[in-house]
Formats: sequence, C-alpha cells, structure tokens
Amino acid sequence: VKENRRILLQRRPHGLPVAADFAIASEAIPDPQDERILVRNLYCSLTPAMRRWMDECSYAELIPLGGPIRCVCVSRVVESRDNAYRPGEYLMVMGAVKEYSTVRANPWTMKIEPEDGVPLSRHLSLFGLNPMTAYFGLLEIGRPRPGETVLVSGAAGSVGSLAGQIARMKGCRTVGVVGGAQKCTRLVEEFSFDAAVDYRGRNLDELTGDICAACPDGVDVYFDNVGGVVLDAALAAINPGARLVECGMISQYNASERIAGPSNIWQIIAKAATMQGFLGRQYLERFPEAMIDLKKWAAEGRIHAREHIAVGVENFYTAFMRLFDGSNDSKLMLQVAAPTGLVGSAK
Ligand SMILES: NC(=O)c1ccc[n+]([C@@H]2O[C@H](COP(=O)([O-])OP(=O)(O)OC[C@H]3O[C@@H](n4cnc5c(N)ncnc54)[C@H](OP(=O)(O)O)[C@@H]3O)[C@@H](O)[C@H]2O)c1
Repeated sequence: VKENRRILLQRRPHGLPVAADFAIASEAIPDPQDERILVRNLYCSLTPAMRRWMDECSYAELIPLGGPIRCVCVSRVVESRDNAYRPGEYLMVMGAVKEYSTVRANPWTMKIEPEDGVPLSRHLSLFGLNPMTAYFGLLEIGRPRPGETVLVSGAAGSVGSLAGQIARMKGCRTVGVVGGAQKCTRLVEEFSFDAAVDYRGRNLDELTGDICAACPDGVDVYFDNVGGVVLDAALAAINPGARLVECGMISQYNASERIAGPSNIWQIIAKAATMQGFLGRQYLERFPEAMIDLKKWAAEGRIHAREHIAVGVENFYTAFMRLFDGSNDSKLMLQVAAPTGLVGSAK
C-alpha cells in the first residue's frame, strides 16, 4: 500500500520562512468517510496568501501547528462516497500539500472538464482562483474605462500579468511595476503592457518619478499586489476619482516588525479616490461567468499565463520561497502526481 506524503507546519515562521518551519511526514492513504471524496492531488497551487495563513488569522482559518499546508489543488477522484462525484473525474478542491486528500464537497469543489490540448495545470494558471481574482478585482472594483491608465504592481506574477492583459483588452494604457530589467522587458514584449517600471533599488521619490514618467496622464486604476513603497509611490500619481484595487500586500507578508503606513494616504482624500480591498473568493458563485470570458480570451490568444511547475511534495519549501525572492515570474505550482498514467485505480 502506498503512503501519503504531506507537508506539515512544524512551527510558525518568524519573518521569511526557513526550511525547519516545515516537515515532511507520511501516513496511510485515508479511507473516505461518509460523503467524503478521496482525491489524488495532481497540482498544488502555491500562493503568497499561504504565508499569511501560517501566522495571521484574519479572513481564513489559521493553519494549526502540526497541520497540513492548505492550498487549492487540481485533483483526480480516486474513490467517492458522494454520489455527485465519480472516480476518474477531475476537480478543483481546497486541499493541502499532500499526495492524497479526503474532501467533503463544498463551494470550492468544482468539476473540471478536461479538454483536448489544454493541460490540467491551466485550471490554476488561466482558469483558477488567481485569474478569477484578477478578473473580478479589475472589472468589478477597478472598473477601467477605455483610454484610462491602469497601473499594476507585482505585474509579472500570476494575478498581476492577467490583470494587466485584461486591462489592455479593455482599451486602457497599461503600466506594470516589477523587480528587475528582465521582468520589465517581459511585461512589454510578452504581456503587451505599454510600459514597465523597475522598483528594485529605488527609494520613494525615485519610484514616484519613474511612475509619473511612465503614466504621463496619471493613474486612474491602481491594481495593488504588493503594498509598501510601491503603493506609496502609486498614491502620488493617482488622478481625481481613481480606484485603488487592494488585492495583496506581499511586501509585508514576511515582516517581523510593525509596518509603517503609506505616507501619501492623504491623496485618497485630495483626489476623492476610493481604495477597496477584496477577496477573489467573494465571487465564487460568479466564477462560471468569468470562466466563459477567460476561456474565450485564451482560445483567441488574447491572454496567456506562464507556469512554473516544481515537482514532488519534498520540494515544497524551495518552490514556495520563489514567491518571496523575486525568482517567480509565473503561476507557481507543485506537481505531486503526473496527470497522465492515472487512469484506473490510483491506489
Ligand atoms: N485578494 C485575493 O483574493 C488574492 C488572491 C490571490 C492572490 N492575491 C494576492 O495577489 C498578490 C500576487 O499573488 P500571486 O499568486 O499572483 O503571486 P506572484 O505575483 O505570482 O508572485 C509573487 C511576486 O511578488 C513580488 N514580490 C515578492 N516580494 C515582494 C516585495 N517585497 N515587494 C514587492 N514585490 C514583491 C515578486 O515579483 P517581483 O520580482 O516583481 O518583485 C514575486 O514574483 C499577492 O499579494 C497575493 O497575496 C490576492
């Protein structure tokens, strides 16, 4: 009988996580209890929010010490006591970084219809929670109008690159803020941004100057993935009536000391702007409507996503840290089982 290898939270990270904060453990593959579904996890989505779940209890349940690392997975049903799900079906589930999970059907349990020529990983990179977050955050909260300027931070990443591509499609001038010259080039050449700004090594005044130069007509929508000094600089460039879409604050997730607030927050008043936070999961019931658009745009070649797929549960830590050291420029995921060769019993 195969073992179920999984990653556990060994201790709460202080600042940047270290390898010893996590442990790899093995257990017998669980039997699905009443109404539960046993799934083989294929791809685990690695996202910055998981860092928050390790030591900050706000919108999502804190991961208990010794507990598995929660994440969204693309999985295949192995055994089911729930009549609505059959072995062999593919699902998106709220699971964990482990080879097998038992899940009870809930609003997160969504069936995936595999399509010829569409790798299953696309259900995280192009049709998963991050793309839904980019879609609803930009369109519902940012409400971009043709001709406006949309500034996106974390713009080469999973959420940011899609927010930028959708904004461009809506007829906006699109400017991205990223770390490093290579990502700047990629934004313009691969993701069709009109301009890119490199925040690395720039202080607030320098970054403000760079953003103002890249956005000569000011910023109408700021899609914020990072918070910190980039948010402060963006505030200095906003137009009257601007919408600030607060999606993430990755610059603060590993802070071990109290964080200073943005010094330019006054601009929200001066420009009668709105600043609104949101969670992609608020729109869970409306995911099917976004899926229609995302699939159409992807089929037309109007949006695309990079993927970085690390392989093996044991490589969780090294892969996860890519989110925080600037090396990630893709939808990051961990492949814990190959999507092929799984037909029939997976046990
Ligand atoms: N509200 C929601 O429901 C929701 C859902 C999903 C994600 N999010 C948020 O969206 C943001 C992006 O998530 P993602 O999954 O798409 O990750 P990602 O952008 O693919 O990867 C993270 C990127 O953030 C940048 N970064 C890391 N540390 C930084 C720092 N100290 N200052 C500035 N930038 C830094 C890095 O790019 P550079 O090299 O360019 O710095 C890194 O590649 C995160 O803040 C996440 O929490 C929110």
